[in-house]
Amino acid sequence: MRRVRAALVAAAMCLAGGGLVFAQAEPPAINPLAGDSAAVQAGMGMFRSRCADCHGMDARGVRGPDLTQVWASGRSDAGLFRTLRRGVPGTEMPSVGPRTSDDEVWKILAYLKTIAAPTITDVVTGNAAHGQQVFRAQCAGCHRVDGTGGRLGPDLSRIGAARARGAIVRRVRGATEDFLEGYEPVIITLTNGQTVRGVRKNGDLFSVQIMDGRERIQGYLTKDVRAVTAGKASAMPVFDVQRLSESDLTDLLAWFATLKGFDPSVQ
Ligand code: HEC
Ligand code: HEC
Repeated sequence: MRRVRAALVAAAMCLAGGGLVFAQAEPPAINPLAGDSAAVQAGMGMFRSRCADCHGMDARGVRGPDLTQVWASGRSDAGLFRTLRRGVPGTEMPSVGPRTSDDEVWKILAYLKTIAAPTITDVVTGNAAHGQQVFRAQCAGCHRVDGTGGRLGPDLSRIGAARARGAIVRRVRGATEDFLEGYEPVIITLTNGQTVRGVRKNGDLFSVQIMDGRERIQGYLTKDVRAVTAGKASAMPVFDVQRLSESDLTDLLAWFATLKGFDPSVQ
């Protein structure tokens, strides 16, 4: 009897296993459309309309990472195909979705390959250990890494994978293209004339919620609020060279480059 049940379990596992193989057929190891000029042309169009908002028209990264470095940093055609198919779960990187055919995914990659750097041009210099100390002193009051640090700013545990280095530099030196959702600066004026500054959290018809500079979530009833104004300046201070030297920034970036949460190439 026991043996029969074991056999049934094994058969069921086989079936389940077979189903899985069907659902996620392994992509070919090499892009079948690499170097095909019509494919490259079509891929460029798709990249510009579907990816450039986050990765930049030149693919050097805005809200998403620099894609000209991915092959040089060791990623394979098949691995990148899987990243596009699945997205990067738990991050802003979306899946291309089921309506995008395998051929279309390969076309996008065929285009990206034509602008890829043959070797890493974005070389990490700087002292990562010192960068971590700079972070503790200047940034950890507002940012968490691996569970430690403040909450007024976003978690930076994946910053090395999530953002291009150039974009981090621009952000730290004070340029904000847009504020991250959930961290937009806001000023609330109450009917009694008092003003409160913080970053916008949830709100509904009846209340507005913000986190103030001391990380307290404050809720205000709409009836007590005279105005909610979008702040112009981020809750993050501008770190100019007086506040953060070029060499401290370089060290900080060297440490950030190690913060990847997990390695997407082994996904
Ligand atoms: C809404 C913004 C957004 C869009 C749209 C987007 N990406 Fe991304 N992408 C990201 C972010 C953010 C990451 C980093 C995710 C992480 O690992 O934290 C990423 C990561 C990637 C990676 C992995 C890079 C690496 O180093 O392994 C590839 C490849 C990629 N994107 C390609 C694309 C392509 C191609 C498109 C268009 C079909 C696209 N992305 C559309 C935001 C976006
Ligand atoms: C007083 C709080 C505060 C301090 C101190 C602070 N930040 Fe920020 N940071 C924020 C807030 C709030 C945001 C999100 C809103 C925005 O983008 O302006 C942010 C956003 C960022 C982003 C963008 C994150 C992303 O996912 O794109 C980076 C990178 C960053 N900070 C790095 C740093 C570094 C490096 C330091 C130290 C040198 C630092 N911050 C110090 C509050 C702070």
